[in-house]
Amino acid sequence: MAYHAPMIPSLARALRLLGEHGDAGPFLARARDEGSLMAAALAHAAMGDEERGAYDVPRAFEIFIRAGGNRALYGEVSAALARLYEQLGVRCLLDIGVGDGMALLPALGQTRRAPVTVDVVEPSGGLLDALRPRLPAGKAWQLTLQAFLTQLGPERRWDLVQSTFALQSIPPGDRLNALKRLRRHVTRLAIVEFDVPVFANAEQRFASLAERYERAAHEYGDDAPLVAGGFLAPMLLGQLRATTPSNWEQPITAWQEELVRAGYRVASTTHVHDYSWAPAWLIVAKA
Ligand SMILES: C[S@@+](CC[C@H](N)C(=O)[O-])C[C@H]1O[C@@H](n2cnc3c(N)ncnc32)[C@H](O)[C@@H]1O
Repeated sequence: MAYHAPMIPSLARALRLLGEHGDAGPFLARARDEGSLMAAALAHAAMGDEERGAYDVPRAFEIFIRAGGNRALYGEVSAALARLYEQLGVRCLLDIGVGDGMALLPALGQTRRAPVTVDVVEPSGGLLDALRPRLPAGKAWQLTLQAFLTQLGPERRWDLVQSTFALQSIPPGDRLNALKRLRRHVTRLAIVEFDVPVFANAEQRFASLAERYERAAHEYGDDAPLVAGGFLAPMLLGQLRATTPSNWEQPITAWQEELVRAGYRVASTTHVHDYSWAPAWLIVAKA
């Protein structure tokens, strides 16, 4: 569904220039003057000296996932995970890129067969600090998946490793290697990711990004400047940057192919929720 707002063409033009030349010219200011929350946030980010990551302001991400269309999305994600623990009889669970537990904790709360141990890996200290007091028996590592794997003993195993919307933060080459190494330590891997569309051309891609980000920012009322500035703008810049991107989403068929290339056998692929960004799917694979 297209988000009809007058600023979208200027914002799309600004994003294209940012992505292709690193400078939006006059289009960011024009979109901001037309009322674009994302243009205001991007213009503000451009004034700062340091490049910010999407998870550097944990509060912005925490508000982002607790409001707007995220409530229904996470409700469905957690319910799907809770069912999976029951179906598989999971005893040892590992969550990679757990964030502050927004998907994990409600899943544990509602399943009729809770795992005995729950370990988590999360590079952001702020998000992990928010999760720690609410984490049941298990261990928390403040590490990236790549670093976690380098210090993992060969005997460590989990019945189920889950990762919701986190593998998209890892560059594809690193991710494939990490998935291959992880395979020795797991019985099953469950990932939830968005089935992002493939665009026929650059113009369509930038129009879609402009529309989807602007619509998301408008869902946050008084918190919109914090969410747009602290999370959405660094996320979007990470998708636009050709030299140092920080997000690698892909269609769900590409996720399936990647798991197969890493040596897994895809057991099921299930639609979870039609989120405004893109539909979310759960893939369960056998190691
Ligand atoms: C969109 S958030 C999802 C968080 C959580 N899984 C959820 O569903 O709410 C992506 C998460 O991946 C984490 N992340 C980023 N790079 C990572 C890496 N290399 N290894 C593991 N996690 C990573 C981020 O810190 C962030 O918590």
